[in-house]
Order: sequence, then structure tokens, then C-alpha cells
Amino acid sequence: MGYQTIKVDTTVGPVGAIITGVDISKPLSALAIKEINAAWLKHHVVFFRDQSLTPTQQADFAANFGDLDVYPFMTAVDSNPNVIPIIKEADAELNFGGAWHTDTSYVERPPKATVLYAVEVPDTGGDTLFADATQAFHDLSDGLKNILESESGIYSPKLVHGREGSYKQAAARSEMAKDYGGAEDFAEQEVEHPLIRTHIDTGEKSVYCSLPHTHRIKGWTREESIPLFKHLTEICTQDKYVTRFKWQQGSLAMWDNRCVFHNALNDYQGMRRHMHRVIVQGERPQ
Ligand code: SIN
Repeated sequence: MGYQTIKVDTTVGPVGAIITGVDISKPLSALAIKEINAAWLKHHVVFFRDQSLTPTQQADFAANFGDLDVYPFMTAVDSNPNVIPIIKEADAELNFGGAWHTDTSYVERPPKATVLYAVEVPDTGGDTLFADATQAFHDLSDGLKNILESESGIYSPKLVHGREGSYKQAAARSEMAKDYGGAEDFAEQEVEHPLIRTHIDTGEKSVYCSLPHTHRIKGWTREESIPLFKHLTEICTQDKYVTRFKWQQGSLAMWDNRCVFHNALNDYQGMRRHMHRVIVQGERPQ
């Protein structure tokens, strides 16, 4: 596709594209929004560099692509209810999002897009990996595709946010206590989604389940389910599907949670990383 308002560079890796030629702190023309949306649907994650955004400018940019959602487990920044701070202090051990997953897949209508902006980045490390779950699904054997498509998953925040969850335990050790909100009963809830979802806009199928959010396959025990989730994670996150994005202050990524996994690397011990995150409402996975 030819673009009139933006430039789209796909050399960043197997999935994703860098968009240049646009200042996203300003209101965008209808054509620019249409073109950014088209590039995003085509490449699954789009990156912008050298932007300068207040929380409200970031939220306004995200709102060009749908209604904004509220993340249930963290308190928003003071200036905007839709922007949550993701901060790892220099003395913290656990990072937020440090495993392969798609965002908030344990709610009935998980967010379609996540818009993440880098406020402060470590000198080295803190990259985010993105994996193309559509291409990974496409490359599976017909036998495994058929099995996965005939099963559904039970998704739950309990593994991460529940009473025994990893964040809860870290918060108790006060590493993430500052912005971390409890919502304990909600954290134990379960919801059923397909393991393979079909994208509502592109019609493409993608692997959707993940170790941190899919508790088990429906009708299977968790112990029986884990080996399959591990296997799927391994094959979907092979180098041939993965782009490694190196953040700079002012970088922004917008990814499509319906077809791309991500993993925030936790390799910058002793340094601070500060991001702002906005999510855009999605539909019930089909
Ligand atoms: C997330 O999983 O939403 C956070 C990703 C990151 O901080 O790179």
C-alpha cells in the first residue's frame, strides 16, 4: 500500500514497522489516522521515535483507534485516568510484563491495542520483544492446528494478580507497591476464550493462549495444559517471528494484542525504567 501522510519502514524485524513523518502529539488528519491504522493492522505493531507526549496527548493519540479502556490492577497517573505508569525502580527485582503474553487476555473483552510510551529508559537493556502469533499459527502443522481450534482456554488473572500471583507477592515485598492496586476478588475470576482467535478486521488466525494468563485448557487440568502452553510459547517465539525493539526516550509502540505476543526484558538491574501505558477496548475473542 502507498501511504500519503506517513513513511513505513519494515526493516525493524520479522514483525512490526517503524512509522516516521508524523508528530503524534498533535491532532491527526482523518487520512493519517486511516493510514496508521492500516499499517498497524498489516504489521501488528507500529513504532514511533522521538515523540514528546504528555499523558493526555498519548491518550488522545490512542483514542484515534477506539474507546480507551481502564486497566484493573494499577492506579492511573494524576493527570489522566487512562494512563498507567509502568515503573521499575533501580532497586526492584520484578518487572511488569516480563513473560510472553498478550495484554489482559483474562477479561471478557481484552484490549485490542496497547500504546506504550517511553518516559525514561535504562542506559542498556529493557528492550521489549514482539512475536508474530499469526505467522506462527500459519506455520503449525494441520494436525496441531485442528486440535487447538477444537479446544478453548480458561483465562484468569489469578496466576499473576491473584492471592498467590507473582505480582501480589512482589507487591507484598513492596517492590511494586506504589502503583499496584489489589482488586483481589476480580483477580480470581475465570473467562473462556478460544486458544486460536480470528482477527475481526483481517480475518487472520493467531495463537492466543499464554502461560501467564491461560490457566488451563477447558476440561483439562492445569498440569496437563502447561506442557502444551510451553510448547506453543517456544514455537511462537522462535527468532524468525520475533522483533526486538530498543526503546529510546520518546519512543512509542502500539501493538495489536489479537495477533502479537510481547515480553518485556528484565535485564537492567540497578537502573530505572519508566513507561506510560494506554489500552484501547477490544471485542470478545472469536
Ligand atoms: C506490558 O506488558 O504491557 C509492558 C511491556 C513493557 O514494559 O515493555
